[in-house]
Amino acid sequence: CTPLFSQPYTETISSPDEGIHVEVTLTQGQLFYTLSKKKRLILDTSRLGLELKEGNLSSKLTYHSSTTSSFDETWTQPWGEVKDIRNHYNELNLELEQEETGRRMNVVFRVFDYGIGFRYEWPEQENLDEFVILDELTEFNLADDPQSWWIKAYILNRYEHLYEKSEVSRIDTVQTPFTMETQDGLFLSIHEAALTDYASMTLARTGGTKLEADLVPWLNGDKVRAKAPHVSPWRTIQVAEKAGDLITDYLILNLNEPSRIENTDWIKPAKYTGIWWDMHLGTKTWGSGPNHGATTEYTKELIDFTSKHGFYGVLVEGWNTGWDGSWFENGDVFSFTEPYPDFDIVEVTRYAEEKGVKLIGHHETSAGISNYERQVDDAFAFYREHGVEAIKTGYVGDFVEGGRWHHGQFMVRHYRSIVEKAAKANIMLDVHEPIKATGIRRTWPNMMTREGARGQEYNAWSVDGGNPPSHTVLLPFTRLLGGPMDYTPGVFDLLLNDKPENPNNNRVQSTIAKELALYIVLYSPMQMVADLPKNLEANPVALDFVKDVPVDWDETRVPRAEVGEYIVTVRKDRNSSDWYLGAITNENARSFDLKMDFLEPGKNYTAYIYSDGAGADWETRPYLMMKYNQTVTAGMDLRINLAPGGGMAVRFTEQ
Ligand code: NOJ
Repeated sequence: CTPLFSQPYTETISSPDEGIHVEVTLTQGQLFYTLSKKKRLILDTSRLGLELKEGNLSSKLTYHSSTTSSFDETWTQPWGEVKDIRNHYNELNLELEQEETGRRMNVVFRVFDYGIGFRYEWPEQENLDEFVILDELTEFNLADDPQSWWIKAYILNRYEHLYEKSEVSRIDTVQTPFTMETQDGLFLSIHEAALTDYASMTLARTGGTKLEADLVPWLNGDKVRAKAPHVSPWRTIQVAEKAGDLITDYLILNLNEPSRIENTDWIKPAKYTGIWWDMHLGTKTWGSGPNHGATTEYTKELIDFTSKHGFYGVLVEGWNTGWDGSWFENGDVFSFTEPYPDFDIVEVTRYAEEKGVKLIGHHETSAGISNYERQVDDAFAFYREHGVEAIKTGYVGDFVEGGRWHHGQFMVRHYRSIVEKAAKANIMLDVHEPIKATGIRRTWPNMMTREGARGQEYNAWSVDGGNPPSHTVLLPFTRLLGGPMDYTPGVFDLLLNDKPENPNNNRVQSTIAKELALYIVLYSPMQMVADLPKNLEANPVALDFVKDVPVDWDETRVPRAEVGEYIVTVRKDRNSSDWYLGAITNENARSFDLKMDFLEPGKNYTAYIYSDGAGADWETRPYLMMKYNQTVTAGMDLRINLAPGGGMAVRFTEQ
């Protein structure tokens, strides 16, 4: 086929329901796209292309061929916030060739009813072998100036920040998922799916409301080092009429590859306790000494507690040598197979087995990647020998191995190699200080959960006193659009009475009912029960809810929500006919009725309601909670009363 450089090429591709349209144009050798929903333009003319060390792939592009196709399949998650997911889209595969160099590149668009994904593909070819991406030129040229919720890119502490709100025209460079509300009330979120052997994408504002992909570089400024055949991650734009629909569209998962793990029976969502909160409060230490947390004796206490209440396992941090001194700097010191002398792993795991509880492993690397990679095979084998099925990893440190950014291609490769090794060893992962979630749990379902935002731990020690009430009503619309988060709910002693010194008045800025509702609202297949056993047992009513609440769901709906204000999430248990509801608010109280139309019609349910008591307030009366039961049916309204910083958690059981 003869390249037709001089002739403009335009193609429109629409979603299956005809609601979303993408127009792709090749003009004067350059490639552009627009995005609209019905007649509303969302992205105005936005450029595509790349700058390579070997020359550009953004100009003198010619049309080679294109194909369109449709796909419609429903697939099942081995575990998740929903069981069956419909993957339904129309696809355009545009094959381009560059005049002069003869280089080939495809751009593939998938258009769903609720958004789009597109990516670059470099097929195997004679004219492009190894190459270096110096700049990805992908633009997102917003047609109006939406409100947006964001955290900055390229600052210390990675993704662990409070979200800020402003018009897009006032941002600088931000992380994704980047969520917006347009002036005519559409909700958008830009992110990426299937981030594999590439650099993480941040978004830089290049003027007005125009954003451009800004890839996290290697030390010398290279962005991505690749060899054809290669593909970029999917650039994703979710489009929703209601904020809550962003949470339940599953665009990111649908753009990932199916599972590479054939038998997933060993992968089990679970709730866990830990020798963890103690260290964040400062009542125990990770390192050795008189207050060492990870002792055989204390672990046995935790095992007893965990067994008594029927949780899956106990996370033990600080069990291995290397924590002494300033452990943030111990990246090349940690051993992942040598326990401290006061932690008898043989005895601990024997005792755990007797009690029907699992030890959950812990690998803090302090971002010492070569030290970890040297040991990881042995470390996984060591834990497996002792019956460990799940490991929490950690990468505290802003720069890795000689100053590399935490989110560049080097680290994307590292994290993926650990996920794959863990899959081979039948190990589930909970990754802290992770690469952002981009849906790879579909391909690697042992990649259970991750942190990647300010979690509960900030309530124990952050210099600003803790996460404000608005933080947890922002997370579901931002960070969690990427995937599950190990926020670690379940602190009942909201005022942190155990904390030896508290110069910044740290506390959990929430009511106790809200703390329960987080188990529903902040989805994670591994949920922590974070507080010290004595504090959890001091509130048996609240503990009952934590014992009941599932971690694996058939269905999820978000019937009411406003970004940063409040959210109501309902989910159906995967292993029973129970439904659960979690409602949380920011610092503002609110009351409203919610139709219980999620329940099965014609059936009576008992609703076990954990609600803020009259007069509850996160600041003054955080512990005030009422528990009451009510017989309810699908036709009825549920009255939801949320205190300032409050919440409500409900279990619905068929009578
Ligand atoms: C930071 C993690 O977020 C936290 O959960 C862990 O306790 C410490 N690192 C130590 O690994």
